[in-house]
Amino acid sequence: MAIVARDPERLDKAVNTIRELPNQGNQVIAISADLTQAESIGKVVSQSIAEFGQIDILINNAGAARAGSLVNLDDDAFLDAWNLKLLSYIRLVKALLPDLIDRREGRIVNIIGAAGRTPRANFLPGGTTNAALLNFTKGISHELAQYNVRINAISPGFTATERAERLAAQTARDRGISIEAAKAETVKAIPLGRIVQPEEIAALALFLVSDRAASITGTEILVDGGQTPGV
Ligand SMILES: NC(=O)c1ccc[n+]([C@@H]2O[C@H](COP(=O)([O-])OP(=O)(O)OC[C@H]3O[C@@H](n4cnc5c(N)ncnc54)[C@H](OP(=O)(O)O)[C@@H]3O)[C@@H](O)[C@H]2O)c1
Repeated sequence: MAIVARDPERLDKAVNTIRELPNQGNQVIAISADLTQAESIGKVVSQSIAEFGQIDILINNAGAARAGSLVNLDDDAFLDAWNLKLLSYIRLVKALLPDLIDRREGRIVNIIGAAGRTPRANFLPGGTTNAALLNFTKGISHELAQYNVRINAISPGFTATERAERLAAQTARDRGISIEAAKAETVKAIPLGRIVQPEEIAALALFLVSDRAASITGTEILVDGGQTPGV
């Protein structure tokens, strides 16, 4: 496994944590790269292939859209969100394509987000990014299917990561309420009454890249405690 992010120290910690997991023999490397930069994409792909020979599975996960009402957001809030998440997901899929097509095999999971289908007024940079990525995931799935490459989306609801803490803080600031109050409101709106744990997202990703999901492609699965209102 190759894991990608910008901060080398946190990457090293993650690598060590993965290596220390029981019953493994895991081969894991860290690649420090800023995925907003188009040239980083080639580096990520070439370093991974140099280490492992080929890339079988791609999990696109980097996203950092800002929350806030439109009056408080400048163009950069949108451009940054689109540049990081929308373009890096698309660029990584594109960069892997020649090899996947040659080998007639591959699995891709895009971590998107429930705001793609259910927009929220205070999360438009993220919502517009996610809506575009749903379109991309479904659209490219038709072309990839002929090469036995499956691509699917997981859309988390409110999930207990560092990002969730930041979003709660941004929402609290924007609305003039405490962070605890912002979080409590979020949990209250989730029918199952619980915040999604990151391990739940990982478990679904594992299923989607496994042969148990051999006929699943171009789809989005929500992991949101039942929060999404539409069908
Ligand atoms: N948590 C939620 O409630 C939630 C809900 C819906 C959707 N999602 C989506 O799930 C995905 C993961 O979110 P998360 O909650 O795990 O976020 P997170 O806690 O902020 O983690 C984001 C990861 O992406 C990396 N990253 C950020 N900017 C990057 C860049 N420019 N280049 C390379 N790596 C970068 C970060 O590491 P560095 O800072 O070191 O680069 C970090 O490892 C995102 O796409 C997010 O939109 C999350």
